[in-house]
Amino acid sequence: MCRRDLAHCISYKMRFFIKSYGCQMNSHDSQRISSILSVAGHEVAPSLNEANLVILNTCSIRDKADEKVFSDLGRLKFLKCKAIDDFLIIVAGCMAQLRSRDIIKRAPYVNAIIGPQNIHQLADCIDDLLKNKAIDAIVATSMDVAGKFQAMSSASPKAADGVSAFLTIQEGCDNFCTYCIVPFTRGRQISRSLTDIRDEARRLTFAGVKEITLVGQNVNAYNGDEGNNEKCDFSHLLFELSKTEGLKRLRYTTSHPKYINSNIALAHREIEILAPHLHLPVQSGSNDILKQMNRRYTRDEYLRAIDLLRESRQDMAFSSDFIVGFPGETDRDFEQTLELVREVRYTQAYSFKYSPRPGTIAAKMENQVPEEVKSERLQILQELLDDQQTQFNSGFVHRRLSVLFTKNGHHENQLTGRSEYSQAVSIYDKTISIGDIVDVQIIEVATHSLIGML
Ligand code: SAH
Ligand code: SF4
Ligand code: F3S
Repeated sequence: MCRRDLAHCISYKMRFFIKSYGCQMNSHDSQRISSILSVAGHEVAPSLNEANLVILNTCSIRDKADEKVFSDLGRLKFLKCKAIDDFLIIVAGCMAQLRSRDIIKRAPYVNAIIGPQNIHQLADCIDDLLKNKAIDAIVATSMDVAGKFQAMSSASPKAADGVSAFLTIQEGCDNFCTYCIVPFTRGRQISRSLTDIRDEARRLTFAGVKEITLVGQNVNAYNGDEGNNEKCDFSHLLFELSKTEGLKRLRYTTSHPKYINSNIALAHREIEILAPHLHLPVQSGSNDILKQMNRRYTRDEYLRAIDLLRESRQDMAFSSDFIVGFPGETDRDFEQTLELVREVRYTQAYSFKYSPRPGTIAAKMENQVPEEVKSERLQILQELLDDQQTQFNSGFVHRRLSVLFTKNGHHENQLTGRSEYSQAVSIYDKTISIGDIVDVQIIEVATHSLIGML
């Protein structure tokens, strides 16, 4: 009997629980891990306490994320010690890629360490662990993405996976922003071929998906093979995917400002199913800081990209990421960030205190900003961003929004979904089902969500 067959035997069926710590790419990897393990005969555990295979799909973007994993591992060690039968702990994701040695040293009871580009090997890895009862942890941290892309192209989505799905179009990043760890965890940028992406989009809509979000670290730098030695850029990919039968909404994240161009703006004007929302991280409004960050655009270039998109689609909504307290950031630099926010008017945003990542250029810069200054600036920025979000959302009271309902809410008869502008909207109505796209009258607004009725 081959190892794969063994996984189907009752004794080798594990109940798995996955915890994700990171970005959309990380969540999407968790979904893939779940489907890989299900195909191999393992079962999803309803909670951590009912699992005997725990996968921590980690993130390394800020230092707090790493420490959280080590504290979770401490708790898992206790469960593993109590377990009578096999109990496997696997650390996957970006921190696994970077810190395999630290993990082995600090948590020697971990059974396997699997980098983000190696998740397609997980089923075989678990078979090995169960069969061979290996004492040493299995470590798979190759940066070669070919096997992962191949596995994506042969995976078949299940109808149960929902009406809104992620679709990876590229992995990795070549930008090397001086603060960022991603190029070291996910490797260089590689795009999937147009054919593979188109096929996956078709398989998804065939399985009932209505909305696809294209994901990658720099989706708009997409440069995949189109066949006949031709390359396909991002705007062309959008036009191609917009033809997918049954697809009602198309989104993408994350975009880099330097790759915004008139063809992408044109796509927003012409493609009806392309959502009028763009996540366009700016990080800072100061040219000096942008330069130190190696972002490769100026404040004016960023604002021009926003204008270009607004000229194409006047109702375009923008969200962003910000870092406060980057080394050398002065009060004046920070004030420029606030001015930029006032000028753009964001509909939603994520903001973070700069966190030095070992091995990056910024971590070695001398003029680090004190923690209390970072905290103060973060609070000021977040207040402004929250105000803008509330203001944007308030503008929809008594107006209609088209909402795709994607899941049940926390309360009885409650459904939640997303508007075209990516706002969370919930409704109490028995006549609506998951997957419906409905015009909803907005009756109430909270900072981060809207309540509507038919
Ligand atoms: N590729 C995307 C985002 C990648 S990481 C982009 O270029 O915009 C997501 C966000 O985490 C970043 O936009 C940034 O705001 C934040 N981030 C990355 N490294 C960080 C660090 N060292 N400290 C604090 N925030 C960081
Ligand atoms: Fe990190 Fe910059 Fe690449 Fe985004 S573009 S993933 S912030 S290096
Ligand atoms: Fe974190 Fe890796 Fe995403 S470091 S933000 S999980 S690419």
